[in-house]
Amino acid sequence: MFSESGLAAKRSGGGKKLKVRAPKWAFDDLSPGQDASVFARTLFHALSLVFPDGERFFIRSVKAFQDKITDPTLLADIKAFIGQEVQHGRVHEFYNEKIVGSRFEIENYLKLHRWVNYTLIEPVTNWLFSPKFSLSVTAAAEHYTATWAHNALTDSRVKDIKSESLRNLIYWHAIEEIEHKHVAFDVLREVDDNYFLRISGILFLAVTMPAWVGLGFVYLLAQEKDFKIADVIGDMAKDASSGSGLTRQFVNAFFSYFRPGFHPDDIDDAALVAEIAAEVERSIKASAA
Ligand SMILES: [Fe+2]
Ligand SMILES: [Fe+2]
Repeated sequence: MFSESGLAAKRSGGGKKLKVRAPKWAFDDLSPGQDASVFARTLFHALSLVFPDGERFFIRSVKAFQDKITDPTLLADIKAFIGQEVQHGRVHEFYNEKIVGSRFEIENYLKLHRWVNYTLIEPVTNWLFSPKFSLSVTAAAEHYTATWAHNALTDSRVKDIKSESLRNLIYWHAIEEIEHKHVAFDVLREVDDNYFLRISGILFLAVTMPAWVGLGFVYLLAQEKDFKIADVIGDMAKDASSGSGLTRQFVNAFFSYFRPGFHPDDIDDAALVAEIAAEVERSIKASAA
């Protein structure tokens, strides 16, 4: 009952070979405050703070069902998804400590975020409902990160970032989020294709994700010096009213997920990824030299 299998488009993510890249950027070309408005910079930092623990949760929730998967293509994609998320967590953790942590107190926020979400909520919901709920949250979170990624690849504010390592950190994470956006979704569909289970994940995230990113934003902003609050509010309003702003993209992503038969690959951003991937790979190669 309420099965989506008959409605969903055939998985098209499978078949494209996912690459695990391991950048070694030191972010030495980044001068704090130079590259972006306080609003854009603080929003990116607030997202960056929640990425590493979030990504480790995504890995756990997909790994829990790995042995239920028999399709060799999906199994290979799971392996690459885990490899990509491990690298994202590692690089963002380094960035958070070196760049964000050198200017702001972040440990108290990180401890609270980790404790509430992964010491309290994760085991309780896994016990109360099923680990399928965590998988559903991950599938929805991956839809959100793919939305953030699509936005990042087309955002002139990212293109204008002068620091090559920061610009490529955003591009690298974005292209890999798009490359693996089908993985958790397809695992969920293989395990249980109930529509309401899928939707429960995005409903949970619609409340918790803005709350945590918003709290991180306020926590960092409260420590920021020499800025005008009117400028931040103005930038926030501009983002919220722009069709290509992150706010509108997230609202659209939320509603599009409700369509029965939705699949992340309905949004084709392969050309966008191909356009940026060469520059990112050049930068990754240079970072390892
Ligand atoms: Fe990621
Ligand atoms: Fe991801």
